[in-house]
Amino acid sequence: MRPHYSPRPASVGSAVAVFAATGLAALVAIWISVVWVARKDSTRSAVLDARDIAVAKSTTVAPVLSDGILRDDPAALARLDTEVRNKVLSPRTVRVKIWSEEGRILYSDDTPLVGQRFPLGPSERAALLTGSSLAHVSDLTEPENARDHHFHKLLEVYDGMRTTGGTPVLFEAYLRMSSVTAESRRTMASVAPAFLAGLALLLLVQIPVAWSMARRLQRGREQEKRLLHRAIEAGAVERRHIAADLHDGVVQALAGNAFSLAAAAGEAERAGMGEVARTVGTAAAELRQTVRELRNMMVAIAPPRLHQEGLATALADVVSPLQRRGVATTLSVEPVAISRGAESLVFRAAQEALRNVTYHADASHVGVTVEGTKDTIRLRVEDNGVGFVPGQGETSRETGHMGLPLLAELAEEAGGRLDIHSRPGAGTLLVLEVPVR
Ligand SMILES: Nc1ncnc2c1ncn2[C@@H]1O[C@H](COP(=O)(O)OP(=O)(O)OP(=O)(O)O)[C@@H](O)[C@H]1O
Ligand SMILES: [Mg+2]
Repeated sequence: MRPHYSPRPASVGSAVAVFAATGLAALVAIWISVVWVARKDSTRSAVLDARDIAVAKSTTVAPVLSDGILRDDPAALARLDTEVRNKVLSPRTVRVKIWSEEGRILYSDDTPLVGQRFPLGPSERAALLTGSSLAHVSDLTEPENARDHHFHKLLEVYDGMRTTGGTPVLFEAYLRMSSVTAESRRTMASVAPAFLAGLALLLLVQIPVAWSMARRLQRGREQEKRLLHRAIEAGAVERRHIAADLHDGVVQALAGNAFSLAAAAGEAERAGMGEVARTVGTAAAELRQTVRELRNMMVAIAPPRLHQEGLATALADVVSPLQRRGVATTLSVEPVAISRGAESLVFRAAQEALRNVTYHADASHVGVTVEGTKDTIRLRVEDNGVGFVPGQGETSRETGHMGLPLLAELAEEAGGRLDIHSRPGAGTLLVLEVPVR
């Protein structure tokens, strides 16, 4: 089921707007990825930078790292503290901890931490045991960093050392994010305007090109539509000529012949030639039937009485061939004051719908109703046939099925709409609504 059968293409303005919006989205995505890559890179540089500094600083405290600190010897701790405060702490290096292998804080410039225990992670243990170093961005939510929350972002560097007596301990320093990141932020800020302006300019110069391409496409489509309508109109005019020629020529002649034959049959009857009279009478009746069929065909190719006698009569003419095929039909037409254009459109739609019922629906019943309000007229053609899936491949204009798409276009042009409700096995309902004026 697809409620609306709309052929409307996107306008040039909205096509260009979509183009510009996607371009802008791409621009934002490019900028975000550039910033992300630059930030990652500067963090990596900052970490390496911090490690070099911290390792250099750990070396300066090595001589005062006596075994006394393992036993909380106040003199040893005081010596270490003086060295740390004089040579290690700086505006950048904000915290120092020295850990035992068991995860006890042997020394920290933040005295309340001394004596506390926190489990060491595997990589920290490895650094402690092998005497190597490692650095990463601090997780300030970890319990051991509870007192350092006020530092916005820190790097922590570990360096495995030995006391003067040879016991492995872990030196840990916390450094503020280095000037490397500040530097990179400054660089980004200075290149950003030029970079973004370049991308925006690229987008801007593409917009007129996109605009002209969209216009050209739209013009092509409009031209195609005009040609199509001209072809339809030409077809309609041609059909009217054929119908008129048939009516004035062949049909009149045949009707005259039927009349003459009927008269001849009467004369033969009166002359007592019963056999001849019957043969000629039968021929006259067959000829009259042929004339009737020809007239029906003429109604189908050009509705001569539409505007003179109104929709009801013209529709009755279109419905009757279905009746003769054994399809039960109901027709109800409310009298509505309606413009010629709307009347032609309703007629044309009914004709196409009933043609579709005849060729595709295999229906046993079809109902046609025309009802009007003050402003619109609504045609409904409903059958109980096989149904279909509207708008799919075999019902599209590209595959040569023109009836419904053309009708949808005509409806839209007249300011109305065409809706097709159908499902395989569930019959089909076509609804056309057009303004009466
Ligand atoms: N009442 C219906 N019942 C079942 N199938 C239908 C009905 N109306 C349309 N269809 C299906 O929709 C298709 C498209 O219809 P449409 O009128 O657009 O084209 P067509 O009738 O195939 O060809 P054209 O109208 O150009 O001669 C049909 O081929 C048919 O498969
Ligand atoms: Mg059709």
